[in-house]
Amino acid sequence: MVGSKVLKHLMRRNLHAIAGVRDINSVNEEFKKNIDFIHLDYNDLISIEKAKKIVDKIFLVPPMHPDMSDMMRNVLDRMQSIQYIVCISASGADANSSFPLLKEHGKIKDYIINSGIPATFIAPSHFYQNYFEFSAKYIKEKNNFYLPQGNAKKTMIDTSNIGEIVVNILLEEGHVGKTYHLGGYDYDNFEIARNFTKVLGKKIDYIDIDPDEYKKILIQEEMPEWKIEILLKLNSAWKAGSRLKSNQESIALLGRNPTTFEEFLQENKEFFL
Ligand SMILES: NC(=O)c1ccc[n+]([C@@H]2O[C@H](COP(=O)([O-])OP(=O)(O)OC[C@H]3O[C@@H](n4cnc5c(N)ncnc54)[C@H](OP(=O)(O)O)[C@@H]3O)[C@@H](O)[C@H]2O)c1
Repeated sequence: MVGSKVLKHLMRRNLHAIAGVRDINSVNEEFKKNIDFIHLDYNDLISIEKAKKIVDKIFLVPPMHPDMSDMMRNVLDRMQSIQYIVCISASGADANSSFPLLKEHGKIKDYIINSGIPATFIAPSHFYQNYFEFSAKYIKEKNNFYLPQGNAKKTMIDTSNIGEIVVNILLEEGHVGKTYHLGGYDYDNFEIARNFTKVLGKKIDYIDIDPDEYKKILIQEEMPEWKIEILLKLNSAWKAGSRLKSNQESIALLGRNPTTFEEFLQENKEFFL
């Protein structure tokens, strides 16, 4: 959701990059024409050793996983020769947090800071692209989508904006030591449903579902238990009103206003039809 967007913006600027992926066969051919791909698995130490020999700046995406800080430790223990790291973090990242995802992000952040490698962290809001994973199937088949978020507004952003911001940070001076909170706009799911209705040209309804019922759907979809637990906690935090205060850092780093949800849908409507 983010790595491919960073590559897209590097390609637009004709910049050379190497992308580490677990499965090179899954990479889209258009990317292969312009970017060098290498096998990289955060649990495969040999693949990390090979990667470190051919890069000097890295954009790091810790996957949402209970072992994400151990995975990043595998990388960072072998990347002391790296000159600069831009890393995805999360708003509220704190190694002492009682929220497991924020605790993991906090441990990663501390580990990078303690490594002494110059680094910048981005803490994005909820991705518009999450609607691909959690809602596209239902919108296509049933003209509705289920989420346990009540009528709470949550701050969201297009990952294409994040990709562009990451490339700007990698290329510009002055970002070392900073953490940027990347807000776009605040929407509740009734507004999101109205955007879907307008852009797709058919009535789409948001169904505010009970968290226990939502859990049953995720189990039916064979989502791993650890991911279900993280998602239920995130949804409960959004329902309680957790959102970013401003999109000013996104505007400053993009040099313009972020993409709205309606603009994102216009560009991506084929995924929901
Ligand atoms: N989603 C959001 O709204 C949001 C908002 C703020 C912050 N974040 C943060 O953004 C980060 C990315 O989250 P996400 O939801 O975009 O994606 P994600 O599903 O966590 O995965 C991101 C990427 O990690 C790769 N990956 C997974 N395990 C790996 C391994 N062992 N070795 C190498 N690569 C591996 C996956 O590659 P494959 O293609 O091979 O599976 C995938 O491309 C997380 O740290 C999350 O907390 C997310």
